[in-house]
Parts: sequence; structure tokens; C-alpha cells
Amino acid sequence: MRIDILTLFPIMFEGVFSQSIIKRAVNKGILELHTHDIRDYSKDKHKRVDDYPFGGGPGMVMMVEPIADCITALKSERNYDAVLFMAPDGQTFNQSTANRISLYENVIILCGHYKGVDERVRQLFVTEEISIGDYVLSGGEIAAMTIVDAVARLLPGVLGDETSALSDSFQDGLLSPPVYTRPADYQGHKVPDILLSGNERLINDWKLEQQLARTKARRPDLYAQGGFEE
Ligand code: ADE
Repeated sequence: MRIDILTLFPIMFEGVFSQSIIKRAVNKGILELHTHDIRDYSKDKHKRVDDYPFGGGPGMVMMVEPIADCITALKSERNYDAVLFMAPDGQTFNQSTANRISLYENVIILCGHYKGVDERVRQLFVTEEISIGDYVLSGGEIAAMTIVDAVARLLPGVLGDETSALSDSFQDGLLSPPVYTRPADYQGHKVPDILLSGNERLINDWKLEQQLARTKARRPDLYAQGGFEE
């Protein structure tokens, strides 16, 4: 999979993309990540990429031309399955969106800043608008990193244990069960006996019970959606 990210702050991505699972996905050649500085596409002599909003109002608006030129240049090289725009008024991101995006071959992610981007960018180029939650970030960069991380771990071959992404919270509509490691007794706080029993069937039953109980208590909305009630 290839992801091209259009941003005014490409350096923000360096740390996140050079660590952990995303780094592993890139090193294994499973994920190709490219950041593009929108400013490089400005034709203005001062490299401006934003301007005052027509009709007045607070804040600056990102101009259509630099973004359009960058997307057009990328599209002349290959076909893209989607142009995602990170925006607080987009569709709320969730695991099923991550699963769907992970099946794409080539994706562009556009990060907005200032008061927004010229509406014509959204109309002419964007295929999906995605929000990572009902709060306003200073820009789309952290949202884009969230999407890349959630998608990278789903790509076949990225996680060592092929089943681990499938056992993530949300993949089966349930939250994950609690997990424990050594010591079995931490200052009197013991690991549940069943996990030390070696009985795989009983352990799996216990895990599912825990998942159901946690989901019911913490996310009654998910629990109701899943039809888990007896
Ligand atoms: N840009 C600003 N806020 C955002 C959000 N909540 N999700 C995605 N992009 C954003």
C-alpha cells in the first residue's frame, strides 16, 4: 500500500513514522509513505498557501491551487483509490473504516490547517472526509497519523502474529479482555487463577466473558449494536 500525505508540516510525521509498527511496515516494504509539503506547490513568490476568506470571517483559508497542483501531479503518476481529507466535520473514523482503507492500493491524505481549505478542494478532489472525533485539532496531521497507524497494523505481514490485529478491541465488536504478565502475584494482587490453569478452552471462555462484561459496562452502545443480549 502507498499513502501520500499532503501537509504544511511534513516534519511532524518523521518521529511517528520512524518508530514501532509503522516503521516495521515500511521496512518490510509493505507500506510506502510519502509526505509532500503543500508549500512547494505555491506559485506565490512568498510561498503563500493561504489567504483571507471571501465574505470576511476569522482565520485564513488554504488556497485551492497549491493543493490542486500537488494532487494533480500525484494522479499523473498513478491511480488513487481515495483522497481522504482530515476534517472535524467528516465521518467519524472507526475500526470498520480502517479495515476498508487497508484494502486500498494508493491513497492520498490531505491535512488541512488554519480555518479550513477552500471548499472547491473538497468538491473537486476529496472522495472521503474523515474526523477522528468530536473535537477540533489545530490541523489534520495528528488525525492523519492516527489513520496511518490504524491501517498499517492491518496490512498482511506487518504484525508478527497474524492473528493479533484480528484480536484487537473492536474487530469483533467487543472490547479486549484484560491481560496480565509476570509476576503472577504483585504485592498480593494476583493474576486470575484461570489464566494459570493451562486449560485453553476455559481460558477462552473466560476471555469472552470478560469481553462481554467490559463492553456492556464501558460501551453499552457497542454492546447493543452487537446483539449480544440474551
Ligand atoms: N482537523 C481538525 N480537527 C480534526 C478532527 N477532529 N479530525 C480530523 N481532522 C481534524
